Amino acid sequence: MRSRGAIGVFDSGVGGLSVLQHIRQALPRERLIYVADSGHVPYGDKSPAFIEARSLAIAQFLVEQGAGAIVIACNTATAAAVTALRSRFPLPVIGMEPAVKPAAVATRSGVVGVLATVGTLESARFAALLERYGEEVEIVTQGCPGLVEQVEQGDMDSTRTRALIERYTAPLLARGADTLILGCTHYPFLAASIRRAVGDDVALVDTGAAVARHLQHRVDAELPPGSGSEASEQFFTSGDPAEAARIMSILWGSEVAVLRLPQQYL
Ligand code: DGL
Repeated sequence: MRSRGAIGVFDSGVGGLSVLQHIRQALPRERLIYVADSGHVPYGDKSPAFIEARSLAIAQFLVEQGAGAIVIACNTATAAAVTALRSRFPLPVIGMEPAVKPAAVATRSGVVGVLATVGTLESARFAALLERYGEEVEIVTQGCPGLVEQVEQGDMDSTRTRALIERYTAPLLARGADTLILGCTHYPFLAASIRRAVGDDVALVDTGAAVARHLQHRVDAELPPGSGSEASEQFFTSGDPAEAARIMSILWGSEVAVLRLPQQYL
């Protein structure tokens, strides 16, 4: 009988661990394989063609490791590569995008702010989201160069991190936003610092839990039943494994071992 296989998850770096945490909760018995493309982070200022090529290589690696489903735990890579991945790999490929729909429902002021990478904000997929919901509510966007790098260094609350957060959130609040979308998977790790900057009256919206629920439905509907006995996590990086292990252990909440991707995937 065909086996269910693992769930393969990737991001430009460590940000996708914020999604992996929700996946682990939703699917407690699965084998999870995570790839951080730390050798090429950030994706936010790279060309869509480069991100597509990296995403195809990483997905190929995940399939060779036995993945039966793939989660692109990165808004930027989803915008650049989800179409190519879906046409290359005949398995469930779950992407993610800034949570404009739930934010449009939640706002009381009628103004929604989007914090995301420049790559996401400039993408055709995001333009389609704006077109769809921009009539109902005012959507104000803010690219956040530098924030991903702070999280990659495990620096969630330094003076520099706080200054960047202040710089990027202030214009959105000034426009009247009462709901801020964390449109990059690195940002949930900054939620406490963002909360401090914006106060208690502003809602922060993250997509990790919704992505995990969607994955759960797809896996249950489309893949063979799991054996239930092989829950585990494996972590890979295209960067320095020792440095990745240090940061990923902090963010994951327990000690993790990280292996380097084989040469042909670097
Ligand atoms: N974590 C990624 C996202 O959700 C992107 C970060 C990057 O710029 O590398 O968009």
